[in-house]
Amino acid sequence: AAAEKGGFDTFMAKEIHEQPQAVADTLRGRIDEQGQIVLDEVRMSDQDFRDIDKVFIVACGTSYHAGLVTKYAIEHWTRIPCEVELASEFRYRDPVLDRSTLVVAISQSGETMDTLMAVRHAKDQKARVLSISNTVGSTIPRESDAVLYTRAGIEVAVASTKAFLTQLAACYLVGLHLAQVRGIKYADEVSAILDELVAAPGKIAKVIENLDPVREMARECAASGERVLFIGRHVGYPVALEGALKLKELAYLHAEGFAAGELKHGPISLIEAGTPVVAIVPSPRGRSLLHDKIISNIQEVKARGAKVIAVCEEGDKITAVHADFVIETPASPTLLAPLLTAVPLQEFAAELATALGRDIDQPRNLAKSVTVE
Ligand code: G6P
Repeated sequence: AAAEKGGFDTFMAKEIHEQPQAVADTLRGRIDEQGQIVLDEVRMSDQDFRDIDKVFIVACGTSYHAGLVTKYAIEHWTRIPCEVELASEFRYRDPVLDRSTLVVAISQSGETMDTLMAVRHAKDQKARVLSISNTVGSTIPRESDAVLYTRAGIEVAVASTKAFLTQLAACYLVGLHLAQVRGIKYADEVSAILDELVAAPGKIAKVIENLDPVREMARECAASGERVLFIGRHVGYPVALEGALKLKELAYLHAEGFAAGELKHGPISLIEAGTPVVAIVPSPRGRSLLHDKIISNIQEVKARGAKVIAVCEEGDKITAVHADFVIETPASPTLLAPLLTAVPLQEFAAELATALGRDIDQPRNLAKSVTVE
């Protein structure tokens, strides 16, 4: 069994370390030398992609979080309205779908019943369905009009890591492809983003090399046994949700992710002296408004006694002044940052859960693939 885990204590640790390669595999052969995205195996023509006037993303769990990130990217790059919905809610509320709607179903296993039912509903309503899956020949891809495989390799740990990062990479490819075939005015931005996407595996590897401080903080948080709150804005918000989900799954600890702007509308009342708050901080470059806002949110929770752990861009001196601990990730365009900022949160959850004596690869009550509704 030790050999199967490639020298790691758990499959999850092995899979966290496989992420740079997994993301590189997702991208392989899908960006040509002219900087065009080629999704040959996706059985949808350029014209099909041009005809789309609305995108719906449906997914569950961690895959849903990948969908939330994708919404920000698709709307920004393509100007096509995009909604994200939990697959288990989708078909019960009569969503507005037609032939020019693209439904993107994200499912690592390709077998999640809620997502499959959402796909069937979309097809009944004549929408086009593109699935993003890690499992070749699984049910959701088979029932979809088109599929893009993530090529993460088999993921054994119940808590998703490399599958999530490769879903993000695949979704970025779909968004950029949509932008390219529609000839959207962001051509320069798209090519800059593509270069950054290609550079992502190297940056993910750097994040993985620097996880020691994360582990240390996780052990401290385990000792205090407190609930942990996660806050973020823009794409940092879904990353906060994912960080909280990982902690719930693995540590059986109460954890919540919030849009940082919503703190003042309720969640801030949860803050007590010593409550750990993990803040996902966007790049400070260009003195972005987003960055200013999250610094204010950090100040708000600090003023109420929170212990702030910030995941920020390397060299972000402002965050370093305000947070109690910083976890630095390499610079990246805002929309691609989740490929980097999600990684320390995976390790944080795994280490915290280990300190509490949990079963990392097989958390209680959870299944890798949920084939009931
Ligand atoms: C289960 C797993 C999660 C996963 C979710 C969706 O709950 O434990 O890790 O995110 O299903 O799975 P899917 O295979 O559809 O991505």
